[in-house]
Amino acid sequence: MPKCAYINSKYIDFNKAKIHIEDRGLQFADSVYEVIAVLNNNLIDFDFHLQRLRFSLKELNISYKLNKIIIKKIFLNLLKKNKISNGIIYLQITRGIQYREHKYEKNLTPTLIIYTRNKKFNLPGKYFYGVNAITHEDLRWKRRDIKTVNLLPNIIAANKAKKMRAYEAILIKNGKVTEGTSSNIWIIKKNNLITHPVNIDILKGVTRTSLLKIIKKTSLKFIEKSFTHKQLLDADEVFLTSSGSFITPILKIDKKKINNGKIGNITLKLAVMYSKSCMNG
Ligand code: PDD
Repeated sequence: MPKCAYINSKYIDFNKAKIHIEDRGLQFADSVYEVIAVLNNNLIDFDFHLQRLRFSLKELNISYKLNKIIIKKIFLNLLKKNKISNGIIYLQITRGIQYREHKYEKNLTPTLIIYTRNKKFNLPGKYFYGVNAITHEDLRWKRRDIKTVNLLPNIIAANKAKKMRAYEAILIKNGKVTEGTSSNIWIIKKNNLITHPVNIDILKGVTRTSLLKIIKKTSLKFIEKSFTHKQLLDADEVFLTSSGSFITPILKIDKKKINNGKIGNITLKLAVMYSKSCMNG
């Protein structure tokens, strides 16, 4: 358990960190969040996370003035206090506290919550592993580009995956793959690398954005296009990306083995390139 959390400008004992029962984050999931990976003391893709956080706040009209330098300082302080060099930082900003009423008032003071957790990442090397996934209907709302804590449909699908001993549920809308419950999904077919385009149907993953920069340095053909459930199962290789899992190969989907259940060469190559880019800050 971490020693310390940060709530509204104070570092507090993790066990004593509390929010008000009428915080709109609790009452309505009226709240946005980010999960930032920390690898060998490096904040991974910090700028992209802050950009997306700004976007989420703006879309929901939550008036929190984000100061990049201050947030970074809090992150580094927390990591130091909690003695974490590999793990994640969780940040949530709720609209604030108000008598329970769907309509919000203008001048609420947002609640800022930040804490850290230790985590071992799945990185290429001796213990690099692939995972199983299931497919599940995408039951979510129509603004999946906003990173809100409104995650019940993701929770339902993720727990179905858990029940089936799978790592992730791949969400399907009208026969097409959108993304995972907490990841973006990629397929490889004949040297083509395909993933869903950025629009309101998916979250614009920070890991996705970073990986795109790496792909430009390879001879792979990148196609940003939605793909079907069938194309997913017929792919040569499948992998997911997220701040918690980096690049993780998917070796089986429902009952279908992908690449004979082995980690594919292209996935491995991309994972190596991605982890090198993280190590170099
Ligand atoms: N989830 N799609 C969804 C629905 C997600 O929740 C996430 C991240 C991603 C990948 O985004 P990124 O590469 O920025 O982490 C895609 C985080 C890790 C979470 O909820 O824990």
